[in-house]
Amino acid sequence: MPILEGEGVTKYFGGLAAVSRVDFHVEQGEIVGLIGPNGAGKTTLFNLISGALTPSAGVIRFQGREITGLKPHRICKMGLARTFQSVKVFPNMPVFENVLLGALFGKPDGVSVAHAAEEATALLEFVGLSAVRSTPAKDLTLVNQKRLELARALATRPQLLLLDELMAGLNPTEVGQAMELVARIRDQGITIFMIEHVMKAIMSICDRIIVLHHGVKIAEGTPQEVATSKTVIEVYLGE
Ligand SMILES: Nc1ncnc2c1ncn2[C@@H]1O[C@H](COP(=O)(O)OP(=O)(O)OP(=O)(O)O)[C@@H](O)[C@H]1O
Ligand SMILES: [Mg+2]
Repeated sequence: MPILEGEGVTKYFGGLAAVSRVDFHVEQGEIVGLIGPNGAGKTTLFNLISGALTPSAGVIRFQGREITGLKPHRICKMGLARTFQSVKVFPNMPVFENVLLGALFGKPDGVSVAHAAEEATALLEFVGLSAVRSTPAKDLTLVNQKRLELARALATRPQLLLLDELMAGLNPTEVGQAMELVARIRDQGITIFMIEHVMKAIMSICDRIIVLHHGVKIAEGTPQEVATSKTVIEVYLGE
C-alpha cells in the first residue's frame, strides 16, 4: 500500500484548472520529486494534500485512510508534515520556541513540555541551528529560516514530509548541505515528497519524479527516464 496516493485530484480556481485529474502515489521510504514550470500546479497539489485547500474533485489517501478535505491540523497529527515555498516561521519568536511549538502540538497525543524541549534541542542540532537557538526567527538568514522550518516540521514526527522548494535561493554549498539533510531524514524512515527547481539536486536524490505542466501530469519515472523524456524536454525548453 502506498503511503500517499491521489486519484483524479483536481482543483479549480474559477475557470482555471490549477491541478487537473492527477493520479499519483508515493511509496513508503521513497524520495519522490515533483517538478514542472512555474505555475504548473505543484504548490497547489501540496496544498490539497496537506489540507490547506480542498480539492474540487478526486480522492487523496494517506496510509490507506482518506484525507480529502480534512483540516490541516488533523492531517498533520496523522503524520504528514510540510514546509512552505515562502517560509512561514513565527518571526518574533526565538528559533527554539518555533521548533518547540511543532514538538508540542503536532503529535496525536499530548507530550510533556520537558520531552518536547528535548526533542526541539535535538532537532536544532540535527539541522545545524543550535548556535542560534535564542535568535528571533526573523533575524535568520534565508538558509537558516529554511532549516528552521524543516526542524519544526520534523518536530511533529511525520511519516511523510512534503518539501516545497527547500533549496530555492540557496548557494551551491547550501544546496549540497540540504541534500545531505534530506538523505539523512529519509534514512530515519521518513518518506519524502519534494518540489524542487534545482535539477542537480532532484536528479541525484530522487527515486522517482513526477512532472506537472498546466496542472496535468505529463511524465513520471526514474530521474533517468524523466530527463530523457521528449515531452519533458519540450516543456522545459519551450518556456
Ligand atoms: N489561491 C489561488 N487563487 C487563484 N489562483 C491560484 C491560487 N493559487 C495558485 N493559483 C494559480 O494556480 C496555478 C498554479 O499555481 P501553483 O502555485 O500551484 O504553481 P507552482 O507549480 O507551485 O509554481 P511555482 O514553481 O512558481 O511555485 C497558477 O496559475 C497560479 O496563479
Ligand atoms: Mg510553487
